[in-house]
Amino acid sequence: MKAPTPAAVSVDEYKNAMRHVVSPVAVVTWTHAGVPEGLTVTAICSATTEPPTLVVCIRGDKSAAERIREAGRFAVNFLSDEQAEIARRFSSHPGEEREAFAPALWTTGASGAPVLDRAVSRFDCAVEAAFEQGSHWVFLGRVIDLGTAPGASLLYRDGFFRRLGTE
Ligand SMILES: Cc1cc2nc3c(=O)[nH]c(=O)nc-3n(C[C@H](O)[C@H](O)[C@H](O)COP(=O)(O)O)c2cc1C
Repeated sequence: MKAPTPAAVSVDEYKNAMRHVVSPVAVVTWTHAGVPEGLTVTAICSATTEPPTLVVCIRGDKSAAERIREAGRFAVNFLSDEQAEIARRFSSHPGEEREAFAPALWTTGASGAPVLDRAVSRFDCAVEAAFEQGSHWVFLGRVIDLGTAPGASLLYRDGFFRRLGTE
């Protein structure tokens, strides 16, 4: 017999527990109507190594998820701990995104999306699958190009950007 579904936890309980979890910080980018756009995102991890594929979760109530579906391609730029300012810029004022792409820092990747040359790791992706799951759209991005640069990852935990420490 199938076990009964346990009582669900509340959204607040879930969010509170997730605040304790450390995440690397990335800017996900795409191009919409010829205009580069991007968003700071922590809900990203490797999905499969064969083929190289990332999973990226984007809120469904913003234009970003729809525009990434339209573009069919996106880039993931994992930031270094010198790039917290970029994370802040791409997490607010979506209307000013265009100005956020300083030409000295960004070029166009194989996906057609902006890539940050000095990101610790960057991945150009083609959307392999996308499905709506509750509040978010879940994207599987097949990696079509990548690059790395020296630097330590920028981290996020409990409302603050943080740096890696050694034991
Ligand atoms: C550290 C950090 C992590 C975030 N992670 C995600 C994420 O994984 N997925 C997502 O859709 N939005 C994420 N966001 C939110 C977006 O970057 C952005 O702030 C939001 O969509 C802006 O919309 P609003 O100002 O209109 O509310 C994150 C923001 C911050 C600061």
